[in-house]
Order: sequence, then C-alpha cells, then structure tokens
Amino acid sequence: MRALTWHGKRDVRIDTVPDPKIIEPTDVLVKITSTGICGSDLHLYEVLGPYLEPGDILGHEPMGLVEEVGPEVTALAPGDRVVVPFNVSCGSCWMCDRGLHSQCETTQVREHGMGASLFGYTKLYGQVPGGQAEFLRVPFGNTLPVKVPHGPPDERFVYLSDVLPTAWQAVAYADPPPDAHVVVLGLGPIGDMAARIALHRGARQVIGVDLVPERLARARERGVHTLNVDELGADLGDEVRRLTDGRGADAVIEAVGMEAHGAPVAKAAQQMVGLLPDRLAEKLMSRAGVDRMAAFHAAVDVVRRGGTISVVGVYGGAMDPLPLLTMFDKQVQLRMGQANVRRWVDDILPLLDDEDRLGVEGFATHKLPLEDGPQAYKTFQAKEDGMIKTLLQP
Ligand SMILES: NC(=O)c1ccc[n+]([C@@H]2O[C@H](COP(=O)([O-])OP(=O)(O)OC[C@H]3O[C@@H](n4cnc5c(N)ncnc54)[C@H](O)[C@@H]3O)[C@@H](O)[C@H]2O)c1
Ligand SMILES: [Zn+2]
Ligand SMILES: [Zn+2]
Repeated sequence: MRALTWHGKRDVRIDTVPDPKIIEPTDVLVKITSTGICGSDLHLYEVLGPYLEPGDILGHEPMGLVEEVGPEVTALAPGDRVVVPFNVSCGSCWMCDRGLHSQCETTQVREHGMGASLFGYTKLYGQVPGGQAEFLRVPFGNTLPVKVPHGPPDERFVYLSDVLPTAWQAVAYADPPPDAHVVVLGLGPIGDMAARIALHRGARQVIGVDLVPERLARARERGVHTLNVDELGADLGDEVRRLTDGRGADAVIEAVGMEAHGAPVAKAAQQMVGLLPDRLAEKLMSRAGVDRMAAFHAAVDVVRRGGTISVVGVYGGAMDPLPLLTMFDKQVQLRMGQANVRRWVDDILPLLDDEDRLGVEGFATHKLPLEDGPQAYKTFQAKEDGMIKTLLQP
C-alpha cells in the first residue's frame, strides 16, 4: 500500500510499504478514506526526530471503511464506517474504566515510562504504524473504533479521532465557571475548536490569541475576541486584564505547545539538538529541558488569581523551567495531558448533526490526495496558503 513515512527532519515521503494484516483475533483492518494532519505531526517533522526511525508511518486522525475483521470481532463487520481514536486504548482496563484512555494499562509503553500507545507517533508512544496510509490495522476492534453512520461526508465525523475530543477535554479541564472569561492561546485546529466549544458551553467571552492573520480572522468570525501576540508582545497580559475586569482569565487553554513562537534562544538549542547524533540528541531532548515555553509563560501571566490553566499543547522535555513561584503565588490550578479520546465521544456525537453547531463541515481548509502529503506538511509548517487543517484522502 501507499503510506506517508518519516525519513528525517522535514523529510516525509510517500512510500510503498507492506499492507498491514490482522494479527490479533480482535484486530480490524480499515481502508482509510480521510486522515488529518495534526499540529502534533509537526513536532515529529521538526523537533522529535530522535524518537523516530526512517520508514515509520505517521498519522493518528483517520477514518474509513472496515475492510476485514479478526475472528473475535463481533461489534463490526466489513463495510462499516468507523473513526479511529488516536490513543490505542483497550476500553476495559482500570484506567479505561475511569475514562483515562490515554493512560490505558494494556498499551502503556512501560519500557519508556509512558502512557498509552498512540497511532503514528514516536518510540516513546509505542511506534505503532499510523493512519496516513491506505490501510490501518486497528487493535481492540470491539471497543476502540467509533462506528458512525453512512451518508454524511467524512468531515462530519473525522475530527472524533482527535480534534473534537482533545478540544472538548481542554475545555472540560479548564472548567470555566458560568459566565467565564476564557483565553485560548493558539488558534490552530485545536485552539479554534476549543474556542468554539467554550462558546457553545456558555462562556461570557472567549479571547483567542495567535499571530497568523487567517487563523485570527477565522476565530473572529465565530465570535471570538482575538489578540495578535506578535503585535502585543509583552503587553499581552495587560491587554487580557483590561478585557477581564482587571483580573485576568478565569480559565486559560494553552493550545500551542513546545514549538511556541517567541523564544528564539530555546529554538537555537532545539536546533542544536536536532544536529546531534541521535542517541545523544534523544538524551538531551528528554533531560535537558530545551523546550520553548513562551505559550506556557503567557498562560501563567493571563490567568487570574485562583484561575485554571488547561494545557493541551504537547510538551516534550523533562526539565523545562516552570514559573513555579508565580504559579504558586497565583494559586493556579493546572490540568493537562493527552486527550482521553474515547471518553468524550458520546458527549460530542449529538452535536454532529445537520445543524453542525461546531462548524465541522467547513473546518478543513485543504482536502488533498495522500500523494500530496509531503507538500502539505511543508505548507502546514510554514503556515502558507491559508492552511489550517488538512485532510488527506487516500
Ligand atoms: N493533548 C492532546 O491530546 C493533543 C492532541 C492534539 C494536538 N495537541 C497539541 O496541541 C497543539 C495545537 O495543535 P494544532 O493542531 O492546533 O497545531 P497548530 O500548530 O496548527 O497550532 C498551534 C498554533 O499556535 C500558534 N502560536 C505559536 N506560538 C504562539 C504564541 N506564543 N502565542 C499564541 N499562539 C501561538 C501558531 O501560530 C498556531 O496557529 C500542538 O502542540 C499539538 O501537539 C495535543
Ligand atoms: Zn492529532
Ligand atoms: Zn485500557
């Protein structure tokens, strides 16, 4: 089959690779019809290279049609339409029973002390072949894939794989009180959708922060008060306080992560790590704390005293310097983590009807054939061509 594979920093290709096969009796094989490119994939493209191997198949936002089922699969049959959550979670262990699918004890990567395996990610997350491909092997066929009806276009459902549950969890963890001022840092797909969900759930005001004009404009069109961090610089906190009765935001969602714009020193350090031999680089990335923390620092600045920060952006280093004095003094409540995708699906599904209250059907800015994947990564990273969300269609 054809698949998008990683080969090195800023080097992904479409290769012909062996077709996946049913291995466990509860596996299903899915023929992919749409598969998103995520901001998390950009971390693989740029800074997380030490944790990948050439030929790894990327992608963790797929949907498609069941092609084949293992002998113990009773919940699905060939021809069924499914969305595949990005966590590889069993659905029946202690963690899954508590809605913590990103910590699934059946697929935890204990060798590296990490949580549940993920499709199409790094060695730290199990190096499971991903879904930017023609076919995907999906374990736990009776519990993991989300069965959706035939009929509506893929865009109606495909974001159940990641964007919707991740944004939903970001808002749930931010836990805005009724009538809250909510700040969303980063208006990529995750921040944009989190802003929509916060408004849908009754926030008084959502303030969205980014620096890319079309991302700001798109959020503004849906009722978000937008701020350009490039123009405001260090005045961002004062501007947010001005808009929130002088106190700051009740709840802040940090949807940027470790490649935040605005910390050039750390960027140089990350790039240096990128040039080291892999074994050394791997150590440095996980031990030396070279992450770019600009967005996290902004979150601590704009949150009100006693407010909540929900970190949904991905961080990768183990020793990032945190502003602990300020966090403690402001009595910040901090929640974070990989989304527990399966947990939120039943809450979200009713919103994916003809009314389309979250605007999922116009959400993708680009729909491209799988073969255009490498160019799409390039364009997405450079934030060119108005690209915000891309669906590849194998
Ligand atoms: N926790 C999870 O389960 C989960 C799931 C999916 C994605 N993510 C992470 O969420 C983050 C966002 O994902 P995405 O797909 O929206 O990616 P994205 O790269 O499209 O979005 C990031 C946005 O942040 C903006 N930005 C950069 N620096 C900024 C700054 N200093 N202040 C404000 N905005 C800034 C960028 O312009 C961009 O629009 C990524 O870190 C991704 O890895 C986490
Ligand atoms: Zn994703
Ligand atoms: Zn589990």
